[in-house]
Amino acid sequence: MFIHVDTLVGSGYLMGPRTANFSAATAVSSRQGTSIMTTTRLGDVEIQLVEPVPRPVRWVGQEELLRQILACWTTITDTDLPLCPRLVGKPGMGKTTLAQAAGQAYGKPVFIFQCTMDTRPEDLLVTPVISEKGTIKYHASSLVTAMIVGGVAILDEANRMSEKSWASLAPLLDNRRYVESQIAGVRVESSDDFRCCVTMNDDASTYEIPEYIISRLQPMITLEYPERDDEVAILKYNVDFAPDDLLAMCAEFLQESHRYRLDYSTRDGIHIMRYALKLEDQMGIERNAAFDQAVKQVLGEGADDFEARARGALIDDNMVDFNSFFGALGDAGIDVGDLDDDDDEDDD
Ligand SMILES: Nc1ncnc2c1ncn2[C@@H]1O[C@H](COP(=O)(O)OP(=O)(O)OP(=O)(O)O)[C@@H](O)[C@H]1O
Ligand SMILES: [Mg+2]
Repeated sequence: MFIHVDTLVGSGYLMGPRTANFSAATAVSSRQGTSIMTTTRLGDVEIQLVEPVPRPVRWVGQEELLRQILACWTTITDTDLPLCPRLVGKPGMGKTTLAQAAGQAYGKPVFIFQCTMDTRPEDLLVTPVISEKGTIKYHASSLVTAMIVGGVAILDEANRMSEKSWASLAPLLDNRRYVESQIAGVRVESSDDFRCCVTMNDDASTYEIPEYIISRLQPMITLEYPERDDEVAILKYNVDFAPDDLLAMCAEFLQESHRYRLDYSTRDGIHIMRYALKLEDQMGIERNAAFDQAVKQVLGEGADDFEARARGALIDDNMVDFNSFFGALGDAGIDVGDLDDDDDEDDD
């Protein structure tokens, strides 16, 4: 059974009718001035929807990035289609915050789907759940809910997903704009208002995303380290009770670390400040000492020795390269000897 879905948003009116066997849903929760239904019927299958994210966020500085996402989501003619950008950057630099802030600015309910290595295609779409009466109920994911109600879906840390899960999204991310749930036996068409973006870390603990998916996640929007003024403003917004000298100290610390391309993030800065203030408040530790201690406990011993850390990071990167280089030689059947780091008699 493949049918189309209508969307019931706001004070009980239907948007973007695409007909066929749609039957009513209940309008319940309220977010950003719009009511969204909690269940809907796709043919004879009743599907439970989820709530949008409850707490709004604010994006501080680098407004250009926000505007780029909103530009991706506009349609400039009737035949134009919105784009699904991928936001890329190091951990803790604000990707999820930026995506959510863009969703809020777009003015629709925002839904975040947290992707993991264990995410299965049905988790992304529709999951069957056995009810108390022993019947099967179907639960829509936050992504499918966004498609139905015309909201914004953020696939967070999307590069943690396997290729199999990505494959189920291929039709959604091109001009077809639908997904097919094998489990519920339904095709879900997205509302005209549906918008999507994905966030990705550029760390190594992720799957390689297949090329045919990357080509659908365009354009790439890269988060860089903020300039000093923005850094202060971001820290101030997130820890609004912090005194100015601590803000300045923390911003200076982060700015200096950025110059060495160390991956100390805004999130690290926020944690350092919060912890330093707690140490000062609870243990009477003087501010500078509290800051130093917080740096050490959040980022590790020697974190303020930027040069040594940067050198260490460089050596680590090269080790990875050497290992994969020799590993590839080994795979090709070339004898590369013992690559273990173990101390053996030749070592000295
Ligand atoms: N420009 C900004 N404006 C407001 N807050 C920010 C900004 N940049 C970072 N933050 C704050 O930094 C913290 C980390 O942000 P966020 O969780 O969005 O990062 P991320 O890049 O998604 O991290 P991860 O890769 O670990 O998921 C949050 O507390 C967020 O509020
Ligand atoms: Mg994130």
